[in-house]
Amino acid sequence: MAMTNDVVRVAALSDIHYSKSSHGALLPVFERISETSDVLVLAGDLTDYGLAEEAKVLARDLTSMVKIPTVAVLGNHDFESGEEAEVSKILTDAGVRMLDGDTFETHGVGFAGVRGFCGGFGRGALGAWGERIIKEFVHEAVNEALKLESALARLNTSQRIAILHYAPIRDTLEGEPLEIYPFLGSSRLEEPLTRFDVTAVFHGHAHKGKPEGRTATGIPVYNVAQHVLQTCYPDRPPFRLLEVRPGGEPVASDEASITERRHRGRRSSDRVPVDG
Ligand SMILES: [Fe+2]
Ligand SMILES: [Fe+2]
Repeated sequence: MAMTNDVVRVAALSDIHYSKSSHGALLPVFERISETSDVLVLAGDLTDYGLAEEAKVLARDLTSMVKIPTVAVLGNHDFESGEEAEVSKILTDAGVRMLDGDTFETHGVGFAGVRGFCGGFGRGALGAWGERIIKEFVHEAVNEALKLESALARLNTSQRIAILHYAPIRDTLEGEPLEIYPFLGSSRLEEPLTRFDVTAVFHGHAHKGKPEGRTATGIPVYNVAQHVLQTCYPDRPPFRLLEVRPGGEPVASDEASITERRHRGRRSSDRVPVDG
């Protein structure tokens, strides 16, 4: 579907966990996305065990069905077998823009992507103190946040969308056991989103989480894990569709969120979620 009325339709999903036997599994979903959207976002856990063989199955399905630009980040599962570089190359060769602190612009909309990392939220976030291995763990989250910040700084578009695998806020984890929240994301990832006032954020990883939340400053955050979308919207294909107007004006009257953001002293919303 061509871009119409200067509106860019961004389809997003994650945690598709392609295995060696997944051939054709998401073809109907990819077909629907190709018919309704201008760009596809895949927010990590593209494969189940991070095997090159799994990535080849996914690459084949994507190339046979998806004719729109596709942009993705890796998730933790894509690292499981130590073949993440090959997984990334196979998908890149299939035309997917793999982001790891990189940017991608299409139809006037900018995308910045990182995997992110975990470590917890707010006052409960793990600090870089004590044993060396704790410091290294915390530094991984700090480094991912810095990569995200530097990517966002390079985008010149007025609409900037962040793609993460791990969650930047707690809201979209609701439904997961509280005990594992610290392993599902890090609030260190929220700071760059706020600083660069991104249009929207997509993440996955929390399979039992909540589909929507907001940063402290009102930026919409969407958990697009396939399982979340299937559970919360059983009558829709499992992807989130977001309409963005590159020029910066609101697309439609999502009055509740626009009013809320004005109330918080921010510019009006330039994005409207649409049924997946
Ligand atoms: Fe996953
Ligand atoms: Fe994950």
